[in-house]
Amino acid sequence: MSDTSPIHPIDVILHKRDGVELSDAEIRSFVAGVVDESISQARIAALLMAIFQRGLSARELATLTDAMRRSGEVFDSTSLGKFTVDKHSTGGVGDKSSLLIAPIVAAAGLADPMISGRSLGHTGGTLDKLETIPGFKTQLTLKQFGEVIAACGFSMIGQTKNLVPADRILYALRDHTGTVESPYLITASIMSKKLAEGLNGLVLDVKTGSGAFMKTYEDSERLARLMVDTGEGNGTRTVAVLTTMDEPLGRFSGNWVEVWECIDILRGVQHPMYADLIKLSVVLAGWMLFLGGVSESAEVGKVRALAMLEDGSAYEKFVAMTKLQGGDVSVFDDPAGFHKPAAISVLMADRDGYLAGMDCTEVGWAVQRLGAGRELPGGPVAAHAGIEMHAKLGDRITKGQPLVTLFTEDASLLELPERMLRETIVIADTTPPKMPLVRQVIER
Ligand code: URA
Repeated sequence: MSDTSPIHPIDVILHKRDGVELSDAEIRSFVAGVVDESISQARIAALLMAIFQRGLSARELATLTDAMRRSGEVFDSTSLGKFTVDKHSTGGVGDKSSLLIAPIVAAAGLADPMISGRSLGHTGGTLDKLETIPGFKTQLTLKQFGEVIAACGFSMIGQTKNLVPADRILYALRDHTGTVESPYLITASIMSKKLAEGLNGLVLDVKTGSGAFMKTYEDSERLARLMVDTGEGNGTRTVAVLTTMDEPLGRFSGNWVEVWECIDILRGVQHPMYADLIKLSVVLAGWMLFLGGVSESAEVGKVRALAMLEDGSAYEKFVAMTKLQGGDVSVFDDPAGFHKPAAISVLMADRDGYLAGMDCTEVGWAVQRLGAGRELPGGPVAAHAGIEMHAKLGDRITKGQPLVTLFTEDASLLELPERMLRETIVIADTTPPKMPLVRQVIER
């Protein structure tokens, strides 16, 4: 095929299926067809599966990421006149750290233009959580995005028709075609959004463990290196922190319940189940403060980040951003009171012992099936679906104590998640050693 001959999407699919390296023109033409909707969903799904099976070369990955990044408008952050830094996670269960980190970074005088995602596979999505705040808008124009950041230091929005539209479409299809767990598709998805933000610095939280998309440490490390190379290759100072995801982070997993947990932490409400979430958030924020040049090391940044959580300055920023994006902050006064699930059920421990293990992906799926995730691409999610964990791995458990509380907006959805949780949560006489929360930091 000559460079000027038209490219048919079926050829792109067949080439990838058969292990032929795709040309830049093929990749760019396919992404253009995704965005202008000239390529059917079936064909897009087929290419996603072919990429899932065959992988991408370094060049193919760089081209796919770039084509997705430029599939719409890109944010010009230079007018902000500040160092712009963001963090993104590869996806976890109960991971609401963005809601703590972005306001910390803004309180430290840096700018965080955050483009987030929706629930994907068994993991939750920041946008679905934020949209449980009455009135909160996650779809802003780039002009409005810039205005919110200029006013309060950060903004949290989603991909739109104009902003990284290719990722919006591919992300939703991956969620429904069993093609989420590809390091190449994850890298292109995350890095296209992050590079479209015009960032100076980026901190990636790469999860590893039973609740991560990459289950083995080696695969997580490989994903981290792919993303760090992509970021650095595009002129963004990029650091990846590998963190353990063997149990839900913090106390709650779901939609509103995760916002509730963050409001509590931002307002200084103490709870023993919040400790790991706070620790992770200040480690990641510490790296962001270091990259942004406002702390002399990531360690010093971590101490400063904790101070901004504790002195209320991060909360002030969170309230300001919420108001600017149309959210009703009166619900923050009583987040527990605003939580209105239609049905609740409590899973009790059936023996004494230690909380010894769980398949955290299965826990994530249980949360999704309570209604926190979507049944169809673009469909609704239930604001008040989720779970509350009552113990952490390694904790002593007494027979009859609550292990997990389940919340749903539809009582008929309780049975399956209850069974999934009962089957996956292990109480035993002994407990295996717990992995440290932060495993490794990867810089170029
Ligand atoms: N977050 C994203 O934005 N994309 C992925 O593929 C995984 C996590």
